[in-house]
Parts: sequence; structure tokens; C-alpha cells
Amino acid sequence: MGSSESSKSKALNFIKDEHRSLAAVVHALQFLSNQMQRGKAPSQTLLGAIAHYLLQFPEQLHHPAEDKFIFAPLRAKTQEAKEVLDALEAEHAAGDARAAMLSLALGQLAARTPDSIANFSKTVDDYATFYWSHMMREETLILPLAERVLSDSDWDSAAAGFAANHDPMYGPDTGNEFDALFKRIVYLAPAPIGLGGTE
Ligand SMILES: [Fe+2]
Ligand SMILES: [Fe+2]
Repeated sequence: MGSSESSKSKALNFIKDEHRSLAAVVHALQFLSNQMQRGKAPSQTLLGAIAHYLLQFPEQLHHPAEDKFIFAPLRAKTQEAKEVLDALEAEHAAGDARAAMLSLALGQLAARTPDSIANFSKTVDDYATFYWSHMMREETLILPLAERVLSDSDWDSAAAGFAANHDPMYGPDTGNEFDALFKRIVYLAPAPIGLGGTE
């Protein structure tokens, strides 16, 4: 590991990049849901790619890394922002319920049940509102506190931990796969959200 300053910026960049990717994919999903409400059928490939990304990446890789490499060392060093950490951790722990809610709405859409498009749009809007608030609190309240409080060795561990999430040697379902999937979502998503590429 290089100097601690570079570990710190590396770890923070990983987290902020992951937030930006997650926000872009949620935004693409909202765009599709708005199109559906106007009667336009979505690309199933794109919808499938977005669903796989959202059901796996934040819940399996991003939040667990935040818990382990940012929240846990913060709790060990300070009582500051304890209520915020409690709330964010509870939100991480509710990942299964969040995934189930999204899966249910996608299943209803596929089955074309009555009101499935309206239900889907509501679910997507709630999902987007949740993630916006979650990531905002992490970036405005927790990361600045971490910058003040965490030690050099905490940042070394965090940089290594987040980097491991993007390493293909850890198997197919890692951040590396999701980086590729993210690029594919951007490629397939219709303009102005994405490049409007063909499947
Ligand atoms: Fe989080
Ligand atoms: Fe996060």
C-alpha cells in the first residue's frame, strides 16, 4: 500500500464513484419507468441488466464494504454521529426487503398484472428517494467525519477492501463484473440517459 494520504483518497474515490454509478443506474430505471407510463415498452435486456445491478451491487458489495471499512472503525473511535450510523446501518440491513420490493414490482411487470406499471413506478420512485437520502447522508455527514477521525491504517484497510470489490480474481460476481454491467447499462439506455445502443 502506498502513502496513507493516497489510501484515504483512493478509498473515498471508490465510495463516491460507486455512489455515482448507483445514482446513474437508479436514474436510468426512473427514466424507463416514466417511458412505460407513457406507453412505451422498455428493452427487456436493459431492464434485466438494471435489475441485476441493483439487486446485487449495492447490497452484496457496496454496503457491506461501508459497514466493515468505514462504519465499524468510526464506531471504534467516536460517539459522534452515532444516530446517523445507526440509521444507515439499519438501512443496509434492510437490503433483503428492498431487493424483494423491487423484485416483486419487476415480477408484476413481467406478468402484466393490473396496475403493474403504476405500482412499478411508485416502487422505483420510492427506491430512488431512499437511495438519494441514504447516499447524501453518507457523503455529507459520514465521509467528512471519517476524514477527520480515521487513522492511516484504517484508510489502508478501506482502500484495500474497496479495491478487492473490483478485483476479477475474487470471482465473476464482483464489482469488476458490475463495472462492466454498468458500462453496458449506459450503452443500452436510451438517450439522453445513455447512448441508446442496440442489444
Ligand atoms: Fe450505504
Ligand atoms: Fe454508500
